[in-house]
Amino acid sequence: PPISPMAIAFDAENLTLSPAGPTLTRRMSDLEGLFLDTDAWAAAVHGDDPVVYTVTSSPVPEIDRELPQSITTIMPGHTSGELWMTKGHQHPDHQGEIYLALKGRGGLLMFDGERTEWLDMLPGTIGYIPPGWAHRSVNTGDEPYAFLAVYPGGAGHDYGWVLEHGMGSRAYRATDGVDLRPYSAPDP
Ligand code: PA5
Ligand code: NI
Repeated sequence: PPISPMAIAFDAENLTLSPAGPTLTRRMSDLEGLFLDTDAWAAAVHGDDPVVYTVTSSPVPEIDRELPQSITTIMPGHTSGELWMTKGHQHPDHQGEIYLALKGRGGLLMFDGERTEWLDMLPGTIGYIPPGWAHRSVNTGDEPYAFLAVYPGGAGHDYGWVLEHGMGSRAYRATDGVDLRPYSAPDP
């Protein structure tokens, strides 16, 4: 059945939606092949396999012509200096997307296969992801970094694209925010 107009209550303190859809939890083990230092990644997985981020969806279905939303919360941390981040993905049909930073400090790394772009994301920053740009979010601070995403319901997530092409840069912890280094494939 088609979905009806609705109000969704957003709790800015607890970063919850009500009503909400499913919440996805990504642990270190879900980020295989993404951090440069494979040994440090494996050690974290075989340790307590920490939660790196969660994604809480609104009840709007992820189908064509709908406009669902979600809130991603990335924990602060790093793996051999590489800041904790989302897996990153490309939208198969290259739809655009909008992010609004809510809490903490972060960055939005984008890559179109040739060019790489970094946007500092502070509460109130709207980050625009144009069609055809793969995107990954990074926590650059020492508290959780949260943002709202609004995306075409049929956008989908191509994670293989990022595994194959990388994101152009890697984001490392630095005293004054972030140190962006050229992408290199993970250690075998
Ligand atoms: O739609 C988006 O781009 C976001 O909601 C992401 O899916 C979310 O931040 C999690 O990142 P990823 O899907 O790359 O694991
Ligand atoms: Ni997306």
